Amino acid sequence: MASNRAVLEKLFEEAARKKSEELLITYQGVLYPSLCSAETFQALDMMEARKDDVFLVTYPKSGTNWVLKILNDLRASHQKKAPTLEHQLMLEFGKPEKFQKIKDLSSPRVFYTHLHYDNIPKSVFEKKAKVVVVFRNPKDTAVSFYHFYNNNPVLPTMNSWDEFFQKFISGEVVWSSYFDHALAWNRHIDDENVLIITYEELKENLYEGVKKIAAFLDFSLPEEKMQSIAENATFQSMSSKSEEKYGKFGPIIFRKGVVRDWKTLFTEAQSQEVDAKFEECLAGTKLGAMLKYDIYCKF
Ligand code: A3P
Repeated sequence: MASNRAVLEKLFEEAARKKSEELLITYQGVLYPSLCSAETFQALDMMEARKDDVFLVTYPKSGTNWVLKILNDLRASHQKKAPTLEHQLMLEFGKPEKFQKIKDLSSPRVFYTHLHYDNIPKSVFEKKAKVVVVFRNPKDTAVSFYHFYNNNPVLPTMNSWDEFFQKFISGEVVWSSYFDHALAWNRHIDDENVLIITYEELKENLYEGVKKIAAFLDFSLPEEKMQSIAENATFQSMSSKSEEKYGKFGPIIFRKGVVRDWKTLFTEAQSQEVDAKFEECLAGTKLGAMLKYDIYCKF
């Protein structure tokens, strides 16, 4: 079986040969990279989740690869098995046939996705599989997303930050509006099978974050093991090994790994536009409070 790195490098080469207009598809009104297809979305709808599956759900650029590593390391320590088929486990990418292979994977399986709550297979909620959701403050998410569009051959290039900002705020980006995602998850923040964590809380205390995730998954591991999982998940540790694991994609994913990088690009007017959107959608909500907007998003 091809390694994760080989699969990613192949995707890169294929994308680099495509014309800009071939890089995106629209499915049910939402833009996605053309690594997704209608056939895979249809097969995904039929996916049978298991009660002990773990689903990592993120809006793009919120720390997906970071928390995926933590989940995979927790799983490997808990179950003494290395993760398998890693590149196939992003729900919406790849060919529909992959769901056949996924059926043979041993539990607990770890999947990840950027899909909106409404588009996640219904069986995930019916079976009450564990769902770990990561959010990052909207301003840093937007800046990270902008660089990702421009550095990643799989997505079209934006002419300017201003152009990207308008698309981000109006939800005309791949996987649609940040605020729609956040509003949907805020309605499920107290569901027993859902854990919402933030990028910022992991930055504040990674070890506590690892412990919180392990407790949610009912994985009981020795303190030293959780300590070493946290040490291996720092930005420095992950970015230094990123080329080995992700090839050319490594430095694109592990760009800066900091909070408040939005200050490098946002104008005052753009900042106020996001403040207004936050006020309208998330102020006074539990998820809004978790994002510590005043600390991370005010000038
Ligand atoms: P920046 O572009 O701001 O650096 P995703 O995995 O969802 O695509 O998110 C990528 C973002 O998470 C990037 O943000 C990346 O640097 C950051 N990131 C990845 N691993 C991290 C880590 N271990 N610690 C902090 N940030 C990390």
